[in-house]
Amino acid sequence: MLKQLILENWKSFRHAELPIDALTVLIGTNASGKSNVVEALDFLQRIVRGEDIKTALTGNEIVPSIRGGVEWAARKPETQFTLKTLIQGEDENTDYLYTIEIQTQPNIRIVKENIRLDTSEDKYKHDTLLFVKNPDFKDRSTLPFLPNLNFDETKISKREQKFLTDEILKPEKEAKENITGALGKIFILNPIPAKMRNYSQLANSLESDASNIAGVLAGLSDEKQAEVETTISTYIKNLPEGDIKKVWAEKVGRFGTDAMLYCQEEWKPGEITEIDARSMSDGTLRFIAIITALLTRPEGSQLVIEDVDDGLHPSRSALLVRMLREIGQKRNIDILITTHNPTLLDAFGSDIIPFVVVAHRDVETGDSQLTVLEDIKNFPKLFASASLGKLTTSGAIERSFSHGE
Ligand SMILES: Nc1ncnc2c1ncn2[C@@H]1O[C@H](COP(=O)(O)OP(=O)(O)OP(=O)(O)O)[C@@H](O)[C@H]1O
Ligand SMILES: [Mg+2]
Repeated sequence: MLKQLILENWKSFRHAELPIDALTVLIGTNASGKSNVVEALDFLQRIVRGEDIKTALTGNEIVPSIRGGVEWAARKPETQFTLKTLIQGEDENTDYLYTIEIQTQPNIRIVKENIRLDTSEDKYKHDTLLFVKNPDFKDRSTLPFLPNLNFDETKISKREQKFLTDEILKPEKEAKENITGALGKIFILNPIPAKMRNYSQLANSLESDASNIAGVLAGLSDEKQAEVETTISTYIKNLPEGDIKKVWAEKVGRFGTDAMLYCQEEWKPGEITEIDARSMSDGTLRFIAIITALLTRPEGSQLVIEDVDDGLHPSRSALLVRMLREIGQKRNIDILITTHNPTLLDAFGSDIIPFVVVAHRDVETGDSQLTVLEDIKNFPKLFASASLGKLTTSGAIERSFSHGE
C-alpha cells in the first residue's frame, strides 16, 4: 500500500511530501494545493493502467483531463516535474520508491523512471536501484516503463551488477507487482448525485462519479449484494430525520441489463414509502456512493475523496466518521480525504491529529507546501487553546505559518 507521495515541481508545489496512512486528512484554505495533490495520485493511477503520459494528463473520451492538461502540470515557469511514491512491500522491512520525471516543454517526454528498493535488512544495500527506464526505447519516451516492464529490458547499472543475484531478481518482480498493484488500486471518488439518478448498466466496478452505482450493486453476486445492501442500510438509517429502512438496487428492463437504485423511507411510524434514485436527496446519494466504494473496491485500495462531507448536514459528521473508520479498517482500505468542514474535523476526535496534513502557501515564494499538523512549530500551544475545528475556522493554523505565532 502507499506510504508516501513526493511532489517536485508538480503544479503549485516545489517540493512536498505527503505521508499516507490508513486514514489521512488533508486540510487547507482555498487554492492551497489539496486538489493538486489528489491529481498527482490520479495521474499515477492512470499511467500504471497503461496510459501514455500525454493522455494521462489531457484525458480522452472516457477520462477527463487533469486540470490544465500538459501546460499546467509543471510548476510555472518550470518545464519538468517529478512524482515519487513510496510503497510498502509485502515484507514489512521492504519499501519501494517509484520515481517518474517528466518534461512538459517543448515536447512531453519521460526523462527518468526508476524503482529503488529500500530495505532495512542488512543483506541488501540500502537504497538499491532496481530498474531504470531503458533509454534505447526512444519510441517509448511517452509510455511509462513500469506497467509494460519486461524483465529482459531491465537495465541495471554496472555499479549495481554485483547485486544481480537470485536474491535481487526476486525483489525485482515483487517490486513491479507491489508498485503497479498499489498505484492501480488508487480510486478517486467524486460522486455526482445528478449522474447517479439514472438507470445504469450492470458493471463490475464503480465509476469515479458513481454514475453506475445501481449497476455495480445489482451486478454483485446475490450473497454479496445482500451483504453490501445490509451494511449500506445500517449506516444510512439515521442519515435523515426519519428512517431510511433499506437501500437496494434492482435489475430492470426486459433483458435485466440495467439497474436502478431504490430506498424505503419511513417518515411516520409504520408508513413506508418506496422511492427510486430520481427522488433521493443529494446528500443521501453521496453518502451511499461513499459506502458503496468502501464496500466494493478491492481490499488494499487507496480511496481518495475530496470534500468528503459535501452535502452532509453537520449533525451527521459523526456518522460519516464512524462509517469511514469502521469499513476502512474492516476492508483494509486506506482513505485520503480533503475537507473544509470544522465540524467534521472535530468529529474525528484527537486521534486524528497525527494524520492531519495542512496544505498551505509559503508566504515568501507562494509555493504550496504540505505540513503534518504535529510538525507546526507552535503546535502544543495552539492545541491547548482550541479544537482543530475552531483553529481551522479562526485561520490560526495558516497564521502560524506566516508569523510563527
Ligand atoms: N502549473 C502550476 N504552477 C503554479 N501554480 C499552479 C499550477 N497549477 C495550479 N497552480 C495553482 O494551484 C491553485 C489551485 O490549487 P488547488 O486546486 O489544489 O486548491 P485546493 O486546495 O484544492 O482549493 P479548494 O479548497 O478551493 O478546492 C491555483 O490557484 C494555482 O495558483
Ligand atoms: Mg480543491
